[in-house]
Amino acid sequence: MSSSFFLGDLDRPAPNTSMKPITYSLDDNSQPLVGGVNLVELAQTHGTPLFVLDEATVRASAKAYKETLAQAYPGASLPLYACKANMSMGLVKLMEQEGMGLDVVSGGELYTAIQAGFPLDRVLFNGNNKTAQELELAIHHGVGRISVDNFQDLEFIHKIAASKAKKVDVLLRITPGIECHTHDYIKTGHIDSKFGFDLSQLPAAIDLIQDGFRETITLKGLHAHIGSQIFETKPYEDLIEIMMNIYYNVREQYDGLVMEDIDLGGGLGVTYMGQDDPPAVPAAVQGIAEKLNAYAKRLNYPLPRLLMEPGRSMVATAGLTLYTVGSMKDVPGLRKYVAVDGGMGDNIRPALYQAQYSAVVANKINAPVEETVTIVGKYCESGDILIKGLPVPHLENGDILAVFGTGAYNYSMASNYNRFPRPAVVLVEAGKAHVLVQRETYDTIIQQDLIPLHLRRSSDASVLPAH
Ligand code: LLP
Repeated sequence: MSSSFFLGDLDRPAPNTSMKPITYSLDDNSQPLVGGVNLVELAQTHGTPLFVLDEATVRASAKAYKETLAQAYPGASLPLYACKANMSMGLVKLMEQEGMGLDVVSGGELYTAIQAGFPLDRVLFNGNNKTAQELELAIHHGVGRISVDNFQDLEFIHKIAASKAKKVDVLLRITPGIECHTHDYIKTGHIDSKFGFDLSQLPAAIDLIQDGFRETITLKGLHAHIGSQIFETKPYEDLIEIMMNIYYNVREQYDGLVMEDIDLGGGLGVTYMGQDDPPAVPAAVQGIAEKLNAYAKRLNYPLPRLLMEPGRSMVATAGLTLYTVGSMKDVPGLRKYVAVDGGMGDNIRPALYQAQYSAVVANKINAPVEETVTIVGKYCESGDILIKGLPVPHLENGDILAVFGTGAYNYSMASNYNRFPRPAVVLVEAGKAHVLVQRETYDTIIQQDLIPLHLRRSSDASVLPAH
């Protein structure tokens, strides 16, 4: 794929607007391939449920951000992949190869990046309740930026930095008061939010850094994130105006203090269903870059380094989940339930956000549609419904269902509810499947359990692990 693909032809589908991975195709026997790998065979080899991630789609998404920013924004820029969407050490390596930075939000995500050997100067540490231990880990390893969410962060960072005689580069996270049309739970930029400084608190935070914490903390810029699964670019343009006006005023009021970075967060949406119509990443990023460039010029402000934190738009459509069809129940006159061997433990999004997904029966791609069914999981909860109203061919036990668009916030939000082991994650490319995360086993499930001595019988000795 040539690098001019993205800017040269903005009307072509970008990875975030094509519901399926960009390598999706059918082989001579009408069986679906992703990354050149036959999905039905993949299910046989690796078992189900199985998370599949298409390397080419992830790389194309990374290039869509990197190259569009490089071409459309005359200042410096760095897209930071929001690891919460889907993280494993292998995926972190892939992001490193693509020249991405990372946005991490916990000690666990940070530790994963450290263990993967990711260049930590390209890491931003976010979060609304960072512990002193997490901040210690971040500062000890020298992460590039910490996004300060509140006064507790400032106090902790100051103490830790002072004890290590280090100076830490921070962004201040603000809640800009922007409303955008997305699910209530994934809105974050509106005023009544747990994240970031209210704009009225901002002067006090800057004062603290500039006065008391001058030796330990350097203010590099502001950070905001307005929400997720956003289909409009206008809220980003509004955000740029709000933030750049603050930059301008800060320079006026704090002796010419110029902030070098601006972090606009993540949130660009993806196509899960045919009716979804998000802007393609290259077009959206180009618009954002041009707006920032123009607005900074208008204010006569030096171009800040442009940071973005895309999560979903980089990995959602790269992913799909393979399930095996099991039991079925026909409720006459109402609906037919078809149960698969996964469910809310590997995809909580329909239950949590009423998210919708599309799917195909991988071993019966060309079979005629015969009925419309409701796909449910095997978790002990009535709300464990994956897809309502999926048109399907005649279904039988053992058929392989491929659910699209599950690359973001599926594996990363997976749980062991009902003590089901979590699925494996495989990366497919050039006809090969590479395991990124191994399938859990029943032993993984019990490995953290301890049975206190007073609850043991003497006869348990032979069957229970010695703890
Ligand atoms: N930056 C910050 C500060 C964030 O809070 C988020 C997402 C992102 C970046 C990445 O946003 P994205 O580009 O992925 O939209 N679990 C929900 C999504 C929660 C998003 C939370 N923050 C879901 O499954 O839809």
